[in-house]
Amino acid sequence: MSSYRDLVLAVAQWTPLERFARRRGLRLGAARFVAGEHLRDGVRVAHEIAAAGKYPILDLLGEFIDTPERAESMADGIRAAIDALAEVTGPRMLSIKPTQVGLGIGRQVALDHLRPLAALAARLDVRIALDMEDHPRVDDTLAILEELHDEGHTHVSTVLQSYLYRTSDDLDRLLARTPVPELRLVKGAYKEPASVAYADKADVDKSYRTLLERMLGGGGIVHVASHDEAMIDAARTQRDALGLPRERVTFQLLYGVKPRLQADLVRDGEAVGVYTPFGEDWYGYFTRRLAERPANLAFVLRGLLG
Ligand code: FDA
Repeated sequence: MSSYRDLVLAVAQWTPLERFARRRGLRLGAARFVAGEHLRDGVRVAHEIAAAGKYPILDLLGEFIDTPERAESMADGIRAAIDALAEVTGPRMLSIKPTQVGLGIGRQVALDHLRPLAALAARLDVRIALDMEDHPRVDDTLAILEELHDEGHTHVSTVLQSYLYRTSDDLDRLLARTPVPELRLVKGAYKEPASVAYADKADVDKSYRTLLERMLGGGGIVHVASHDEAMIDAARTQRDALGLPRERVTFQLLYGVKPRLQADLVRDGEAVGVYTPFGEDWYGYFTRRLAERPANLAFVLRGLLG
């Protein structure tokens, strides 16, 4: 997308840097984007979000898990998070990364964990979102979503990324389903090759607008997950022009990013979700946030020097 973004995502994969960052812990600046290392931190922030008129999207940090034991332990952590979220007033959602529950080991491993988690969430009235990770996981993630929907778990949603060329075709397939799945639209956060993803921000933004228009015309609930005010304005204008009820569209932002915009949207009567990560495995999430905005990196460097 930009050389800055590519550089940060590439350097972040350097193991000594990761080791150094983990030793410094959340003090490195990650505390700005992460509720804390423990479930109680995530739950405390979830209650604060609900009290401010927004809805929490809790996320137990963890990804690219490669042993069945760790996938099992992640699933236990997610179960506890669903239980705790059920105590929060109002709508509540929990995000799961498919590789967190073993997608890297096999699709069946992930499905075997996701099925009971989806059932528990349905009982406790918690919505589930399957986050979208890097491009080699897209086929499996969509297949899992479709299988869960076929089994009646229509409270499970997923994410489409506007930087991928394939997303328009994926959307065709999802819009043809009954009911149309609830979908979150993002630009995309991973380091992807030019063979699969737009490199220019202008192309990613253009694709976002086109996908958004199709999703709004398509029938399901649309979560506009962006801090880009042009995208948010476009969604509100199109929704109103199409005469869609407000419940068809929610706006999702990340914990720690643009709090004033979050409050303005709430004041305007919009449904606002706040993606709230917690847990010890914060490194990958944090580096993607640094890659999104040079000022975030400057903030970390200032913390290191100061
Ligand atoms: P863009 O990057 O153009 O930024 C728009 C404005 O917001 C700019 O002013 C920018 O500086 C500011 N901004 C953006 N990110 C910021 C940050 N981290 N800190 C401070 N300011 C920032 N991706 C993915 O691949 N799979 C997924 O499942 C998800 N899930 C997800 C959920 C939610 C609720 C959100 C908001 C985002 C995601 N993402 C994601 C991340 C997404 O793909 C994307 O990387 C970021 O949202 C940044 O893109 P924007 O749409 O905000 O636009």
